Amino acid sequence: MKEQIQALVDRVKAVQNLSDLENLRIEAIGKKGILTQQFATLKNLEGEAKKAFAKEINELKELFENALSEAKTQILQKDIQEKLAKESIDASLFSTLRKTSYGHPIHQTMDKIIDFFVGMNFSLCTGPLVEDDFHNFEALNLPKSHPARDMADTFYFKDSMLLRTHTSPVQIRAMKSKSLPIAMIAPGNVFRRDYDLTHSPMFHQVEGLVVEQKDKVSFVHLKFILEDFLHYMFGDVKIRFRSSFFPFTEPSAEVDISCVFCEGAGCRVCSHTGWLEVLGCGIVNQKVFEAVDYKDVSGYAFGLGVERFAMLIHRVNDLRSFFETDLRVLEQF
Ligand code: DAH
Repeated sequence: MKEQIQALVDRVKAVQNLSDLENLRIEAIGKKGILTQQFATLKNLEGEAKKAFAKEINELKELFENALSEAKTQILQKDIQEKLAKESIDASLFSTLRKTSYGHPIHQTMDKIIDFFVGMNFSLCTGPLVEDDFHNFEALNLPKSHPARDMADTFYFKDSMLLRTHTSPVQIRAMKSKSLPIAMIAPGNVFRRDYDLTHSPMFHQVEGLVVEQKDKVSFVHLKFILEDFLHYMFGDVKIRFRSSFFPFTEPSAEVDISCVFCEGAGCRVCSHTGWLEVLGCGIVNQKVFEAVDYKDVSGYAFGLGVERFAMLIHRVNDLRSFFETDLRVLEQF
């Protein structure tokens, strides 16, 4: 009998679910169970023999019941773990979430950018996410044939409305609603049909615009403020302005910083150039001023992608990890 019970105990230890466990319980201590039957034979014994046998089967019963309850606890615990792993939202975890909160890396970076320009007396402007063709393209000297209008990049609605593809349309809105001098930044979400390691269909930009009377604003002012800004964001990096083209600025430049990964020596991230492009800028094109009926003014503008800044600051190589809401990732910032 001892061997029989021991075999049952071994089977209990290997059981994976509660219904198999219940079957084993019945086999051992159910109405017709092995041990139950043994208890029934007690009445045929007497004296010391009865006592000794009773002791033996009670011990075996205890052994079996302990194994049973241990197995049950383990199965229940395993079930809970599996459930937790399966369900991304578990209300019982809320209390831990509430104790600490994390600034999202994109917002942290955005806040740092905003702090700099607010400190330089720039005001904050906003504009709608659903824009019209005029503000997003036309007024910014992006003619109908310009590739940036390509259906492949832009999310369109009916009636030539669209999700803004950049924050530059806020320039137009600011000039239409404000008087000189203007010094503003426009942080916000923008949308493009793009999705890979370094692009997502929604991302964040900060646009900057300064407009004053004619001849008061030059490339020197632009260069001064952006150099100061980039040192504030990236520390002791080298900065270079590279001539470029944007329809809304003339002349235009792209600004590079020395690679933060290899400090300019050349690596995979900077395509072995030692430089990383971080923003676009230029002197506001007269065509843009014409679109908002501004005369005798001068200005500069710039635009940057917040995700790119956050990736370089935090050395993140897959932009999508910012948007996957995985707390194990976000907690690290
Ligand atoms: N709007 C541009 C983009 O989305 C960024 C940009 C570049 C803005 C140059 C500007 C600028 O104001 O002068 O890529």
